[in-house]
Amino acid sequence: MLLTVSFVLHVLSAALWTGATLFVVYAVLPRAVDGTMRPATFADGVHRLLLITRWTGVVLPVTGAYMIWVLYTPLELLTSTTRGWLVLVMLTLWGIMNGLIEMGVLRMRRELDPDLGWGAYMAEGFPAEGITESVSTTRLAAAGRPYLLASGGCAVVLLVDAALLAGGMPW
Ligand code: HEM
Repeated sequence: MLLTVSFVLHVLSAALWTGATLFVVYAVLPRAVDGTMRPATFADGVHRLLLITRWTGVVLPVTGAYMIWVLYTPLELLTSTTRGWLVLVMLTLWGIMNGLIEMGVLRMRRELDPDLGWGAYMAEGFPAEGITESVSTTRLAAAGRPYLLASGGCAVVLLVDAALLAGGMPW
């Protein structure tokens, strides 16, 4: 029963996070880059992606660790089976994608406040309040774009990895 609940929470979180990231890359970022989006609207979208990243950043490792404990003990199964390697790739990409999104949003915030400390950033994220119309959305987006594009790439590879686990592999 607990394994089923873990799968449900894991897949829901995975869908929400990868979907939100790809939506921001596909639909939000281009409008920010060309300057047709208001700066506060862009900041709000990015802030919500950060919140999703942080909430799923708790659910995915907790449920994933439980699934590893149930399905991949002894832990040699992680390195001696193809499914195990796919799980290790999943775990690694999760870490990389988290880091990319956090760094991207931090870089964008520091465009507005170069002295912003890590602690304040972790507590506040990227609040839209106080962002005036004089801020250049293009400049903000340029600072975060490489990180967001790389996160989108990670999301696609993660989904392929999950599909291989779900569908089974021919090898
Ligand atoms: C801390 C990070 C993560 C860990 C430890 C982890 C671990 C696992 C494990 C152990 C499984 C079960 C594999 C099996 O059925 O043999 C699984 C399944 C799955 N994971 Fe992750 N995962 C993580 C992050 C992610 C992320 C970021 C995604 C985003 C796409 C994701 C999507 C999925 C999906 C869709 C499945 C179901 C695949 C199936 O039907 O077996 N996981 N994960």
